[in-house]
Amino acid sequence: MTELAVLDPVVGFIEEEIDPVLDLFEEIERLKRQKNAVLLAHYYQEPDIQDIADYIGDSLGLSRQAAATDADIIVFAGVHFMAETAKILNPHKKVLLPDLNAGCSLADSCPADEFAAFRARHPDHIVVSYINCTAAVKALSDIICTSSNAEHLIRQIPDDQPIIFAPDRNLGRYMIKQTGRDMVVWDGVCIVHETFSEKKLIRLKMQFPEALVLAHPECEEAVLRHADFVGSTSNIRRFARESDHTAFIVATEEGILHQMRKDCPNKTFIPAPPESGCNCSQCPHMRLNTLEKLYLCLKHEQPEILMDEAVRLRALQPIERMMEMSVGVK
Ligand code: 13P
Ligand code: SF4
Repeated sequence: MTELAVLDPVVGFIEEEIDPVLDLFEEIERLKRQKNAVLLAHYYQEPDIQDIADYIGDSLGLSRQAAATDADIIVFAGVHFMAETAKILNPHKKVLLPDLNAGCSLADSCPADEFAAFRARHPDHIVVSYINCTAAVKALSDIICTSSNAEHLIRQIPDDQPIIFAPDRNLGRYMIKQTGRDMVVWDGVCIVHETFSEKKLIRLKMQFPEALVLAHPECEEAVLRHADFVGSTSNIRRFARESDHTAFIVATEEGILHQMRKDCPNKTFIPAPPESGCNCSQCPHMRLNTLEKLYLCLKHEQPEILMDEAVRLRALQPIERMMEMSVGVK
């Protein structure tokens, strides 16, 4: 029986030397079987993690999988708000996140106390919050949405009902454009999606005139206006798979390209260029998870997501509302 290490909360992940001859893929598979654990991974994880996951998906797909699993342990290869959502749905299961520091700029941009004050200034508004927010903000919300179902959900809200949309201003503005609803939008932004450069995108389109531009709605309006298709990660993937076109410029975190290239090895996928020459189209939070941290997290069943029960129960209601209102949405 393995001795379980204790997590140093300041570090946020298990630190332990790993024998370099160990085959981490095999070890992770063995631990998953032994502990009846399921590994859920977001498309923005590094390719090795995607390859070993039991399920890869977007935020909606991952939430649905988390709600449906009969595993005893859920290992979430994603960011903190995603693992929190899995815990909200599974209070009696152990939910693990390989690195507790894997946050999200959108969730960080919306502190619960400031959001409570904002909400209090608009007492007649219904609150639709993007799933990229903390459990405490979910607890202050009426309906949770993802980029897959936001439009579908907003269209179900009566026309005379004023709406607050939080925390992503780009998705909020895109939804205003799509639905014609005049929403009050929180001023949050994703540091990865705001970084794509319109000027460089225009140049790339001239270089590859046959390529379609596929963009995530977290991108700035200036980028979205050049897109042939706007959708969530799984919808971008599906669009490319089903399209007759053979070349695509993809404006979202570049981890998605791994599955797109596996789906369609004969098609060309070009990552949209960020403003500077850095690796800015890799999410620095998502990429904190590594195969090594994943292995140690499964081995020691740490770091674990824990949550105040009152917050969990309040946060569960808007998530359940999302699930009910988006049955059938892909
Ligand atoms: P989706 O996978 O739901 O499209 O979300 C993208 C994202 O930024 C997750 O953090
Ligand atoms: Fe958050 Fe953006 Fe990273 Fe997604 S890609 S986790 S929205 S910072």
